[in-house]
Amino acid sequence: MNLFPLLLFVHVLGAIIAFGPAFSFPIIGAMSGKEPMHANFGTRVSLRLAQVQLTPLALLQGITGLSLIYFGHIDLFTSTWLLIAIVLYVIALGYAGAVQSPAVKKVIELSGGAPKPGAAPAGGPPAGGPPAGGPPAGGPPAGGPPPELMAAIRKVQQGGLFLIVLIIAIVFLMVTKLSF
Ligand code: HEM
Repeated sequence: MNLFPLLLFVHVLGAIIAFGPAFSFPIIGAMSGKEPMHANFGTRVSLRLAQVQLTPLALLQGITGLSLIYFGHIDLFTSTWLLIAIVLYVIALGYAGAVQSPAVKKVIELSGGAPKPGAAPAGGPPAGGPPAGGPPAGGPPAGGPPPELMAAIRKVQQGGLFLIVLIIAIVFLMVTKLSF
């Protein structure tokens, strides 16, 4: 039985499910920027998507990719497109784990941290009605977000753009199989 078409199906579907969210992170980021009171939650949503959807399936891409090479009897060393794509893939994985993920976690820390497990949900209406005047504790500080947080957000945005460019380049090489 020829496993190639089945593996190619899993590989392409994996690419769609894995990297779809990467193209939505800038939308979540832009909305978080416009509504700083939700920036912490927005960033945590992005991190969770990266941890449970993007990263595991991105790793699966490597496994299905290697299987395609094996079952398709593809000569890796004459397929420049594949060699370049694999290098870009390794760079993307390394950058995501070593730079982007810590940068996203820093934004979460600087914007109030993650709720402790078992803690009462934040943001709900207080039992005794609205607080008597003044913004709730933990809300955005007066005078806008601190510069350190803004710098951390910029780093995440630039890293996200870099990763998106790498993904586009990999898909381009996979589909066109351009030889250089
Ligand atoms: C970001 C990760 C990756 C994405 C988004 C991706 C995407 C794709 C897509 C869309 C195709 C279908 C191309 C077509 O049939 O026209 C494909 C094919 C393929 N990919 Fe990937 N891929 C990724 C990683 C990898 C890796 C790491 C390897 C190798 C280790 C690999 C090996 C292959 C092979 C061998 C094919 C079949 C080419 C053929 O039809 O002869 N891919 N990939």
